Amino acid sequence: MNVAQDYIEKNKAKFLSELVELLKIPSVSTDKTFKDDVFRAAEYIKNRLVDAGADNVEVCPTGGYPIVYGEKIVDAALPTILIYGHYDVQPADPIDLWDSPPFEPVVTDTLVIARGAADDKGQIYMHIKAFEVMMQTNTLACNVKFMIEGEEEVGSDSLGPFLEKNKNRLSADVVLVSDTAMLSNENPSITMGLRGLSYVEVEVTGPNRDLHSGIYGGGVANPINVLAKMIASLTDSENRITIPGFYDKVVTIGDAERKSMNEAPFDLHEYQEDLDITEVHGEKGYTTLERTSIRPTLDVNGIWGGYTAPGAKTVLPSKAYAKLSMRLVPNQSPDEITALFTNHFKKIAPASVKVKVTPHHGGEPAVTPIDSVAYKAASMAMEETFGKKPIPMRGGGSIPIVALFEKTLGLKTILMGFGLDSNKIHSPNENYGLFNFYKGIETIPVFFKHLAALSKK
Ligand code: BES
Ligand code: MN
Ligand code: MN
Repeated sequence: MNVAQDYIEKNKAKFLSELVELLKIPSVSTDKTFKDDVFRAAEYIKNRLVDAGADNVEVCPTGGYPIVYGEKIVDAALPTILIYGHYDVQPADPIDLWDSPPFEPVVTDTLVIARGAADDKGQIYMHIKAFEVMMQTNTLACNVKFMIEGEEEVGSDSLGPFLEKNKNRLSADVVLVSDTAMLSNENPSITMGLRGLSYVEVEVTGPNRDLHSGIYGGGVANPINVLAKMIASLTDSENRITIPGFYDKVVTIGDAERKSMNEAPFDLHEYQEDLDITEVHGEKGYTTLERTSIRPTLDVNGIWGGYTAPGAKTVLPSKAYAKLSMRLVPNQSPDEITALFTNHFKKIAPASVKVKVTPHHGGEPAVTPIDSVAYKAASMAMEETFGKKPIPMRGGGSIPIVALFEKTLGLKTILMGFGLDSNKIHSPNENYGLFNFYKGIETIPVFFKHLAALSKK
């Protein structure tokens, strides 16, 4: 056991109890009721960075929630790693479906269960603790800068301006992010691609008021019926998206990458069993791994209107609403796709209704190189601590700031996440494996070590 592993072993309980304190803060960025808690989470992160030994630690105000910054510059000749993560979390709803209260963390033999456990508090906390380990054991091999934000789950609006204003302060050699998942604990992987996102809300209006569905029913367009038909028409019998031009810019992945992607140890049976489904679904001609990574999608995230309270009310509603997300792949642009969607959706609306489309936050897709020094260092680090070389994999989720780092700071990102798909992020009973938490704390310093060594040559 080396000094770092020894320090981790002795401080495991402390590391975990500090994470539990962070998980108790309901820093839900999308809901203003939690505003003070989001600020409180930023303060907590700041204080733990100070405790760990970071310099120039600051809770930087933005137009929205603050960005916590901190750094340790040991030697200008060494590479600098910019660590990014987010302290905000998704809402806990539906709360009834949690087995324990979302902000009262439960620690079992193998898991910590709470909202934000894996996305992303547990994962940013690994970085803060890995930094403490390196400081305490005198093994900090690279310069490090921390940038931890509070608006990731709502589109990172303040981040673009912050990067623009702080180009010098944020100068680095590479960005390191732990906010993704691995294939499994036995088969570690490094994410090398993320999907982009286009997100829209639609409103369909029929008559100017809710009507009696007997008096008017049959004679006036029902906006919910209309909306359902419109949405149904957005995909065809092969589950391809019907919006004209939608696929025009999609980069076709070569047979070699598709082949190696499908060689990844992925068990379709386990996947179905975990989700209680008897069959998977998706675009014809693609496997599940492909459908959830290299192909774009269109999903309804929510749909509402009319009467939904208990009992029956005979009503022909005036309005119907839905929220839709489209996951994008290289080289689709969220602005272009949102425009294509908007035009098409208005075009397919019958004259009996009015349609309004409101775009929400979007994000660019991203691909990160796997032939860089930093990737090599990450791969070597995981191989050393997991005993198995990680597989490069594309992820299906979105982290829009990855494209922003490249555009604004000219920086490439390493997506070395330690989560698992079974962590139930954004769902009830979100959890993070204690194995993953400690393994991350152990692996990060090894990444620093390899990056410094490889950069010397
Ligand atoms: N950490 C996730 C993204 C993620 C999870 C990527 C797992 C790959 C694997 C991030 O916090 C997230 O939820 N992003 C949002 C997008 C954002 C603009 C709201 C998403 O993917 O829905
Ligand atoms: Mn996240
Ligand atoms: Mn998330």
